[in-house]
Amino acid sequence: MGELREAARVQLPTVSGEFDTRAFRVGSGFVYLALVKGDLGDGQSVLTRVHSECLTGDALGSLRCDCGAQLELGLRMLAAEGRGVLVYATGHEGRGIGLLDKLRAYMEQDAGADTVDANLRLGLAADSRRYDDAAAVLQAVGVRSVRLTTNNPRKVEGLQAAGIVVEQVIPAPAFPQLRNQRYLRTKQERFGHATLLGAPLFAERPAQPVDVGSLLGTADPPDGRPLVVLKYTQTLDGRIPASAGRFGRGDGEAETLISHALRTTCDAVLVGVGTVLSDDPRLTVRAIPGRSPARVILDPDFRSPLTAAVFTPDALTYVMTTGAHADRAKRQALAARHIAVRAIQAGPGGLDIRAVLQQLYAEGVRSVIAEGGAHVITSMLAAGVADRVIVSIAPQILGRGTGAVGELLDDRITDVLQLDNQSVHLVGSTVIVAADIGASSARAPNGKTTADPGPR
Ligand SMILES: NC(=O)c1ccc[n+]([C@@H]2O[C@H](COP(=O)([O-])OP(=O)(O)OC[C@H]3O[C@@H](n4cnc5c(N)ncnc54)[C@H](OP(=O)(O)O)[C@@H]3O)[C@@H](O)[C@H]2O)c1
Repeated sequence: MGELREAARVQLPTVSGEFDTRAFRVGSGFVYLALVKGDLGDGQSVLTRVHSECLTGDALGSLRCDCGAQLELGLRMLAAEGRGVLVYATGHEGRGIGLLDKLRAYMEQDAGADTVDANLRLGLAADSRRYDDAAAVLQAVGVRSVRLTTNNPRKVEGLQAAGIVVEQVIPAPAFPQLRNQRYLRTKQERFGHATLLGAPLFAERPAQPVDVGSLLGTADPPDGRPLVVLKYTQTLDGRIPASAGRFGRGDGEAETLISHALRTTCDAVLVGVGTVLSDDPRLTVRAIPGRSPARVILDPDFRSPLTAAVFTPDALTYVMTTGAHADRAKRQALAARHIAVRAIQAGPGGLDIRAVLQQLYAEGVRSVIAEGGAHVITSMLAAGVADRVIVSIAPQILGRGTGAVGELLDDRITDVLQLDNQSVHLVGSTVIVAADIGASSARAPNGKTTADPGPR
């Protein structure tokens, strides 16, 4: 263990409360921070996280890894417990290879390597982090034994080897996003990280596990447009109930968890203006820890009110509009709130849905979960751009109201609407069926379709 010198100590107010923040120059030459919450007392059983610096994830919100979300949750866990330490280990960037080489390793990953081989191809260690400096910092702030939140067995061994008693290892939740699933899986397979991918939601109700990963499937993103997942709830008679009472009694909470877990895996969540006007949804991730995706509203005539909940600053919002009826004052008000307004050509049902998807792709969106309503679902199916469907079937017969899927009049569409890779779950009294819509992108040549997107 190298020599350690405390260089600064300051109260740091954060969104997760105030931390007694102590900066140490550690033996390896880096500066480590100990963010200390509460009185550590005898230093026994201290809730602890050793967080490896990750500029791209922690500060920039990169979705290539889940570091930023882990950091946020780590601080919140300490705040909730009222006692604990987060050691922020600089020099750990990219598992110890530094920022520039990490970005070069990303280039290798884009060329096909996994996160381990990318480092090796550059002649760098897969993981060169050491934990003796972190252990020295923990000891300096009075920690004797820890309840360590981590998925990384090497971190546990490293701290133990440096004299820290690890009383308990608390698995840190993973934040699978379609973009970082491969990265998380590689860490499981090659570093023995705790298996959290595919972990069921509702661990407390093991009889009804829902594996969000299996709902999403493994459909590959198509070329030139984002992967599109349709998600909606329908009754036994195929109708779309309005938001209130979408599910059978008691299943609403489960539905919210599943919806939010699915949202956080995608780059964007999309609805039509009909849903904004009737339900006023926020479309954020609140029920589980995780990032809120960008929100996309199809609103040809700018009918969404400025007071709509989708315009809160919780996440980036795109309003897709024809621009033809654009109300100048409204447009300016949205611009002032950093809402992205994009002009899209008209098409069946309102906007040309393929043009919407191309625009999103150009903005960097690679996966979209479309949460309705019926017009949007029908348009997506009619245009042959839906790759996967996730339908919750509530045990109710409404007997009236809108069908979930309108008429798809084009034989080229209906002839090939076979579903593959099904996954079926029972949640309370609700059945959730998920399936790939085979070869969707090949179905509508030139994007032309005569399908009717349903009643307006
Ligand atoms: N059960 C569920 O899972 C679920 C989910 C969401 C919503 N809902 C319910 O569904 C109802 C709203 O659904 P909805 O079908 O009336 O509205 P919607 O699908 O949410 O929105 C349809 C509107 O979006 C605009 N749009 C633009 N381009 C479009 C395109 N290519 N295809 C389709 N629409 C396009 C059009 O606006 P313009 O009319 O201005 O042209 C269209 O009228 C509400 O009652 C809501 O509670 C249920």
